[in-house]
Amino acid sequence: MKLFLDSARLDEVKQAVDWGIIDGITTNPSHVKTAGGNPSKIYPEICRLVSGPVSIETIATDTEGIVREGRALAEISDNVIVKVPVIKEGIKAIRILSSEGISTNATINFTPLQALLAAKAGATYISPFIGRLDSAGQKGIELVDQIRKIFDNYGFETQLLTAAIRHPEHVLQSALIGADACTMGFSILSGLYDHHLTDLVLQQFLGDWESVPKWIGGPYGD
Ligand code: E4P
Repeated sequence: MKLFLDSARLDEVKQAVDWGIIDGITTNPSHVKTAGGNPSKIYPEICRLVSGPVSIETIATDTEGIVREGRALAEISDNVIVKVPVIKEGIKAIRILSSEGISTNATINFTPLQALLAAKAGATYISPFIGRLDSAGQKGIELVDQIRKIFDNYGFETQLLTAAIRHPEHVLQSALIGADACTMGFSILSGLYDHHLTDLVLQQFLGDWESVPKWIGGPYGD
């Protein structure tokens, strides 16, 4: 499963790239607001820092506008994925952009049938917002399961990208279901490394090592 960072903050992008574990980035208008810079600088810089796919969202809500913005965003860099909401106008725009060879991420997805429509339109990715469904009293992960089944039933190549991730358990559930990718905020990405027993056992090993005779000239230094 690919791991994407869901952020437009350059410090977070740089740190995640340095860790060597992320496959791409997803951004959205709210992330750009949080990052606090100008998108004309932020988007190209993220595309430069990351070799994998970078999702950048359109703002227009009519098909012509979405297509126009999508074409312009795709000009920023070869790794741009144009993020389009799964509204009627967006699904139509996805079909047009896809026919031009522009990769798309169908976003703000809350039903399996929206995902089916996006896949039929040729979307490269579909982004179900599972944490937001949980907050609305539904089980977001069930949506992921349903989309997986639909895509497998018909051999759709659209990649299932779980989004609106709220905790590491969402990442685990995504992987168990067979999502192609999962995008998460920086704190969740960082939390994937953690277990208190890892820290405890490491401290025990290092403590015991202090009473072991020194291996002069060996691999551990003097
Ligand atoms: C995904 O691509 C979106 O940017 C993101 O996951 C939205 O999630 P939110 O509910 O945290 O805004």
